[in-house]
Amino acid sequence: MAEKEKLGVLCSGRGTDLQSIIDAIGRGEVEAEIAVVLADKPEAFALERARKAGIKAVCVNRKQYEGREPFEEALIKELEEAGVTLVVLAGFMRILTPLFVRHFAGRIMNIHPALLPSFPGAHAHRDVLAYGVKVSGCTVHFVDEGTDSGPIIMQAAVPVLPGDTEETLGARVLEQEHIIYPKCVQLYCEGRLKVEGRHVHIIEGEKA
Ligand code: GAR
Repeated sequence: MAEKEKLGVLCSGRGTDLQSIIDAIGRGEVEAEIAVVLADKPEAFALERARKAGIKAVCVNRKQYEGREPFEEALIKELEEAGVTLVVLAGFMRILTPLFVRHFAGRIMNIHPALLPSFPGAHAHRDVLAYGVKVSGCTVHFVDEGTDSGPIIMQAAVPVLPGDTEETLGARVLEQEHIIYPKCVQLYCEGRLKVEGRHVHIIEGEKA
C-alpha cells in the first residue's frame, strides 16, 4: 500500500477548517496523516485543536522574525522535519513569497472564502457585501506565486441574503468550506487531481 500523504496545516486563527480535516480523517473520509500544525501567532486556537487531537502543534511566531524570508525558512524547516508532503493553508493569513511556494511547488492548497477570481485578499466577506453580489461561496485552489490566483480545484456557492453581515455570510460560507476542503485533500491523496495550466481535472475513480 502506498504511503499516506503527510499534511502540514498552516493556520492563523480559530482553526475550524483544520478541525474539519481532523474530523474527516477520524471518519476515514480523508486517508492522510496530519504530521504537524503550524501557526504564525501563539494565540491561534488552531494550536489547541491540534494538541487536543494528539497532533504536533508548533507556533512559528512571525513577530520573532525580521522579514518574510527568514520566517518562511523557519516554516519550511518545521514542515521538512515533519516529513510533510502536502501543505494545507487553513485560514493562514500571510501571503507566501516565491521562496516558500517554489519549495513546495504544486503541493500547497489554500481555501479562500469567496468565489475566485472575485474578491481575493484578506477581507472577502466585507468586499462581497460592499459590492452587492447575490452569490458568494468558497474556493479551494493550488497556490502559485500570486495572491489567491492558482488553479481552482473546487468551489461551492451560497446565496448572499438581505441583511447579511460578515458574520452571517461567513458562517454560511464556512459550512461549505468544511465540506469541500476535506474532499479536495482526499482527491489529492488519491492522486486524482491533474493540473494542466489553469485547469485542474478530477480524474474519475471508484470514490467519485
Ligand atoms: C476561513 O473562512 C478561510 O476561508 C479564511 O479564513 C477563515 C479561517 O477560518 N481564509 C482566508 O481568508 C485566507 N485568505 P478558521 O480559522 O475557522 O479555519
